[in-house]
Amino acid sequence: MAELIVALDVQSRAEAVEKVKAIGDAVDFYKIGLELFTAEGPDVVKAVKDLGKRVFLDLKFHDIPRTVERAVRSGGKLGVDLMTIHSVGAKAMIEAARTAADEFGPNGPKILAVTVLTSLDQADLADVGIVGRTPAEQVQAMAQFATAHGAHGLVCSPKEVGLLSRALPAGTLFITPGVRPAGSAVGDQKRVATPAEAVRDGATHLVVGRPILAASDPVAAAKAIRAEMS
Ligand code: C5P
Repeated sequence: MAELIVALDVQSRAEAVEKVKAIGDAVDFYKIGLELFTAEGPDVVKAVKDLGKRVFLDLKFHDIPRTVERAVRSGGKLGVDLMTIHSVGAKAMIEAARTAADEFGPNGPKILAVTVLTSLDQADLADVGIVGRTPAEQVQAMAQFATAHGAHGLVCSPKEVGLLSRALPAGTLFITPGVRPAGSAVGDQKRVATPAEAVRDGATHLVVGRPILAASDPVAAAKAIRAEMS
């Protein structure tokens, strides 16, 4: 059964706590990203954990292996459940992230690799020296690479998840943002899928922000998405 993660894209700890309390039992997994973490630091992770929720800390680490290993360890101590790294950090960095995660045992953080940011196109890849592969080919190659070196799963668009879930071993995690229930506002997302489509194609976790946070009734919106997922 795929899980629903709400992107806690707010600017303060107080607002985050207010949203999590308002959504209550309808959601038990939240994504904390760069904006909120840079504003409020680890306290916001602790606050969400104290409300009994799981946390996906989406800071997309990309640094030397030792630094990433220690940062993952810090996340594990905070009780974070999912964390992101960039697969272009290469083999030793991915392995170091996994080593640190494994220190926390089966309930420790799971490492998710970002392959190619969905904001990048072929010209952007060429600018940074990636030539001879389309973005889709680069996504597939980096997905294989990252999971072969210890990533538990991948962050990918709902348009990629079908291909990747067929190519990678069972048990790989697939976390997909860009999910929109039928009829809801797309916002700035360009390549969206419905919750049912994403789950059908192999997503294990869906990340949904505005369709829930900006809804007049966030609890009803979350429940409707979960119903569609199942
Ligand atoms: O509000 P919305 O549902 O579009 O939020 C999606 C969340 O997933 C945001 O936190 C966004 O930064 C994140 N995300 C994304 N697309 C990616 C990677 C992350 O929308 N490729």
